[in-house]
Amino acid sequence: MEIRPLAADDVDAVVRLWNATKRDTYDFIPQERGRSVADDDAFFREHILPRCAIWIAVVRNEVVGFLAMRKSYVDRLYVHPGAQRRGVGTALLAKAIEISPGGIELHTHQKNTKARAFYDKAGLSVVRFGISPPPESEPDMEYQWRP
Ligand SMILES: CC(C)(COP(=O)(O)OP(=O)(O)OC[C@H]1O[C@@H](n2cnc3c(N)ncnc32)[C@H](O)[C@@H]1OP(=O)(O)O)[C@@H](O)C(=O)NCCC(=O)NCCS
Repeated sequence: MEIRPLAADDVDAVVRLWNATKRDTYDFIPQERGRSVADDDAFFREHILPRCAIWIAVVRNEVVGFLAMRKSYVDRLYVHPGAQRRGVGTALLAKAIEISPGGIELHTHQKNTKARAFYDKAGLSVVRFGISPPPESEPDMEYQWRP
């Protein structure tokens, strides 16, 4: 597996991966499941690409995961369902800590049991329970890691 910075011609593959992974994950968020690849492409290029440092995980020339960081904040971390439980998320989280060795923060949904198991195993701490911004308004939680 190679972890490398996103290049312009990786964007289409990352957006397809993001859309497929959200559909697999967010059975509890109807707004997410209703979003097409074109919707996600527009959001990614307008809101994520200009604001985040983005890294991708590549296996045999295929993008299998990505990490988007806004300074110390993990804005997005996604591993394709077909590539999960093989250490890709762990490698991307290690990259996040390499980028921000003073600590990282992130939010996840309380119903996202996979992500919670993953962050708990990685040694992150839950620092707050809350609600995501409207219109989603789902129970969420904030994790952090400190050295
Ligand atoms: C959460 C996510 C990034 C984990 O990525 P991953 O590549 O599957 O994680 P890893 O293979 O590195 O897992 C490391 C450890 O975390 C724990 N873990 C990961 N996924 C788990 C799951 N589905 N159930 C239970 N434990 C899990 C395990 O302890 C695992 O070690 P093991 O496989 O040796 O038992 C991935 O499931 C994902 O992309 N989910 C959808 C998107 C998402 O929820 N992103 C986070 C939003 S904040």
